Amino acid sequence: MQQLIRTAFVTGGAQGLGRGFSKALLDRGIKVCFADVQASVGKSTETEFKSLYGDDKVMFCHCDVTSVNNLEDSFNAAVKKFGHVDLMVNNAGIGDESKLVQMISINLTAAIQGSQIALEHMRKDKGGRGGRIINVASTAGLIGVYFSPRYCASKFGLVGYHHSMASNPHAKEMGLQFGCLCPAFTDTAIINFDETKMDYYDEGLKFLEAIGINTVDAVVDGFMHFVDNDDINGDIVTVTAQRGFQVKNKHKRKAHL
Ligand SMILES: NC(=O)c1ccc[n+]([C@@H]2O[C@H](COP(=O)([O-])OP(=O)(O)OC[C@H]3O[C@@H](n4cnc5c(N)ncnc54)[C@H](O)[C@@H]3O)[C@@H](O)[C@H]2O)c1
Repeated sequence: MQQLIRTAFVTGGAQGLGRGFSKALLDRGIKVCFADVQASVGKSTETEFKSLYGDDKVMFCHCDVTSVNNLEDSFNAAVKKFGHVDLMVNNAGIGDESKLVQMISINLTAAIQGSQIALEHMRKDKGGRGGRIINVASTAGLIGVYFSPRYCASKFGLVGYHHSMASNPHAKEMGLQFGCLCPAFTDTAIINFDETKMDYYDEGLKFLEAIGINTVDAVVDGFMHFVDNDDINGDIVTVTAQRGFQVKNKHKRKAHL
């Protein structure tokens, strides 16, 4: 029987993909707390969502995910308001190659910390109710991209974390499932590149034009795989302009030793 998802916590939800995920969850009647470092954009998204779905269904936390205390406080505020978080979505990210330390800190460290905070809250063996932890990586976490090597490194790291957590034989008794979303280029602010944000900028842009750009809606469709299906542990959903969304899972193909 499908585990009921009633509440979700989404990082980087003020705009772009996180906003799209939050809206799709709210459309399904799932209560959402979204956290973001951009206070005014977050507030206006919250106002819009509250007018569409009601004050009790949504909350915004101004939060810099690179501060573990800030992230934990925001997560706890969601637990306080909703009683429990069933779905954790580590989505906040940047793609600026000139900001190596910040990039690793947001894209990788904070996603791992967010996962651990959610895990401790959700684990059934310590009184939790179970849940799902979805990390938003990228196709750049599956194949090397020479014009965004630091971004790739952060996302490869996150995919590695996902595989490790999904292969944990104790995940089942903890009532936890891990999913990983890997979109290719998508029409959000993160792809507003310039020469400072990408190595070999001209070549990067040519590549981007050649492979095409996902719509946010297409990536949201892929994301909802993790909400609509019962057994998602270990699933990696890729979303590309050419092939739409595809589900891969090496954990289901062979026993993980
Ligand atoms: N758009 C793409 O082409 C694409 C492709 C693959 C993966 N992704 C991933 O999708 C995720 C969402 O990106 P997006 O495309 O929506 O870009 P975006 O720039 O529109 O949204 C990213 C959000 O993260 C927030 N954020 C950044 N740093 C933060 C911090 N320190 N604390 C809290 N919030 C922070 C931003 O304020 C913003 O709202 C990222 O992890 C990104 O790497 C995007």
